[in-house]
Amino acid sequence: MSHHKYTWAQVALHWLSAFVILWSLCTGSYVALFNVSPHMKSIMTALNISMTTLFIPFFLMRVVLRVNHLRHYTVVPGELLATFVHNLIYLITGMVLLTGVLMMDRSITVFGALSMPPLITNPQLLSGLHAAHQQSTAILGGLVLLHLLAVVKHEFSGNRILKRMSFQTSAWESPLRAREDISRQSATDHSSMWAPPATAPSTGNARQPMPSMADDVRDRRRIRRH
Ligand code: HEM
Repeated sequence: MSHHKYTWAQVALHWLSAFVILWSLCTGSYVALFNVSPHMKSIMTALNISMTTLFIPFFLMRVVLRVNHLRHYTVVPGELLATFVHNLIYLITGMVLLTGVLMMDRSITVFGALSMPPLITNPQLLSGLHAAHQQSTAILGGLVLLHLLAVVKHEFSGNRILKRMSFQTSAWESPLRAREDISRQSATDHSSMWAPPATAPSTGNARQPMPSMADDVRDRRRIRRH
């Protein structure tokens, strides 16, 4: 996997996706499971439909970046599970969005401005898609929970993944440019590669002080991109 910083585009897309998915999962489930007034239900549903429909192009951009990333970097054995779960989150989010659009038995209206007629009218198909939307949102909820628990676990074990997924530490360049830079860098500069502790000079049993760049190198070797 790569060992460089996230780009600003990756950070922005990550937090936008996190907000839209968490918001629509929480409010959608709340409206479906609790006794909410019909007025409130229709406001919430209209808001969520508008927001998630607008989110679709951003999600597609993220998928392109993800596929591009997977094509250029080899997944190391220690990151197989995380990569699998991340890929599953992309796949299930795609299914949630697709079933959401297809199950609409009325026009999809985006904040009262844009309107698209329903794509499917067959009632049986619509009810199947409605069930698929409910099931895929439940799976997505489980995966998001797993993802959050993994973040908490990493943070508690000293791996500052949240710090890396911030604008403060992101690289202000295009994701494709960043990839070119890291290829050039890795051909000449081995400091960007993960060096296991065994490669440190072993003079006696005394602990070696970490070099000043240690945190940075240690951080970079754990970088996972979404
Ligand atoms: C990230 C994307 C999305 C998430 C996380 C999400 C989440 C949810 C959740 C949790 C529910 C409640 C499910 C249940 O009844 O148990 C729901 C219902 C619903 N969703 Fe989505 N949704 C998304 C995208 C969409 C899209 C793109 C549309 C349509 C354009 C849509 C339309 C609807 C509608 C109409 C309902 C209400 C269904 C009913 O009345 O039973 N959703 N959504």
